[in-house]
Amino acid sequence: MAFPVSKHVAAMQGSSTLMAAQVAAEMRASGIDVIDLSVGEPDFDTPEFIKRYAWEGLEKGLTKYTSTQGTADFRDSIASFYSQRFGADIRPGEIAADCGGKQALFNAACTLLEPGDDVLIPKPYWVTFPAITSFCNANSVFIETEQTDFIVTADEVRSSITPRTKLLILNSPNNPTGRVIPPDEMRRIAEVCAEKGIYLLTDECYLFFAYPPAEPFTSASMPQELREFICVAGSFSKTYAMTGWRIGYTIANEEWTRAMVKLQSHSATHPTSFVQYACARAMRDHEETIEAVNSMTGEYARRKNWFIPALNEIDGFKCAMPEGAFYAFVDARDMLGDRFGTSAEISDHLLHEAHIVVTDGAGFGADGFIRFSYATSMENLQRAVDIMKQMFGERTAAAV
Ligand SMILES: Cc1ncc(COP(=O)(O)O)c(C=O)c1O
Repeated sequence: MAFPVSKHVAAMQGSSTLMAAQVAAEMRASGIDVIDLSVGEPDFDTPEFIKRYAWEGLEKGLTKYTSTQGTADFRDSIASFYSQRFGADIRPGEIAADCGGKQALFNAACTLLEPGDDVLIPKPYWVTFPAITSFCNANSVFIETEQTDFIVTADEVRSSITPRTKLLILNSPNNPTGRVIPPDEMRRIAEVCAEKGIYLLTDECYLFFAYPPAEPFTSASMPQELREFICVAGSFSKTYAMTGWRIGYTIANEEWTRAMVKLQSHSATHPTSFVQYACARAMRDHEETIEAVNSMTGEYARRKNWFIPALNEIDGFKCAMPEGAFYAFVDARDMLGDRFGTSAEISDHLLHEAHIVVTDGAGFGADGFIRFSYATSMENLQRAVDIMKQMFGERTAAAV
């Protein structure tokens, strides 16, 4: 008898980004030399000093349950880091520790949404946003943003609101587009939300991945009257190269936070005790932490500055310079026609004929686009570009 998977889960699509990573791993295991440009994680190791703190936590015997909300030390350290770095005024009661940005998003959505609510999600979106929305029996209402260069505006938000809109989910710096919503626009969007009584969930997983002149910006630094409607989903995964440690946090009003803690008390309980300790120490080592982050983002910027112009030399590819995150979002619609019907076919072709793993845009609601991650070595990026130039041809000078 077939296992009776619940309707909720049966309706979910597996994460397309994780599926691409899985394909890459399988090909590698069978001895194929793959160039994996699908990765959504830093290729750096966690900074040494954070590892040392985790070890110190173990030596101190921090191996037992902590409070579900996370230790007071962890929450205080986040509050003081945000105050020092962003001038944000956050009470530790507004912070809850969880097992990564994904759980933060999940907790926030599940404690707010009722069946039939509408959730505004700008396109292209990170794959998990509509998945969580439908898990809550709510409806995704997508906002088209191509006309504003994939940066959603307050006007676009306002004109997309329906009578049932309960939540807007934003992600800036953005996966997959690399766009960054300017702070003024973010504030205007938050004002629209507060005016209409709509909640705003800001996924700030790539907080520090903003390349000058773009700057890291958190909605946690907005005025209190706007923050009443905002939940920040924060994560240590990307910024500190800690994807496997599974730690993140939410910053939201105390009532929302209590609801999320209640929900989490019946699932993960809390993130690992000595990992909370390591993160708290790292947050208090403000300067060392910022230095480690800057050295990683400096390297991403160097790769981006080489990779994006190189992608634009490939016949049929168009790619705007990302302002944040570590993805190049290539418009491949000029290649569609006789040879390829969809960007998924181009991605498949790259996989099977060149062993280059990329992520097709359709999973992000952007058919015709392909996401390339540059969280990999320059050597890999150069090899991939050389192969793609041979495969698809180089753009003639006149067309550039
Ligand atoms: C936009 C976005 N949000 C959240 C996450 C979740 O990160 P984690 O759960 O590792 O903190 C990711 C990971 O790829 C992401 O790309």
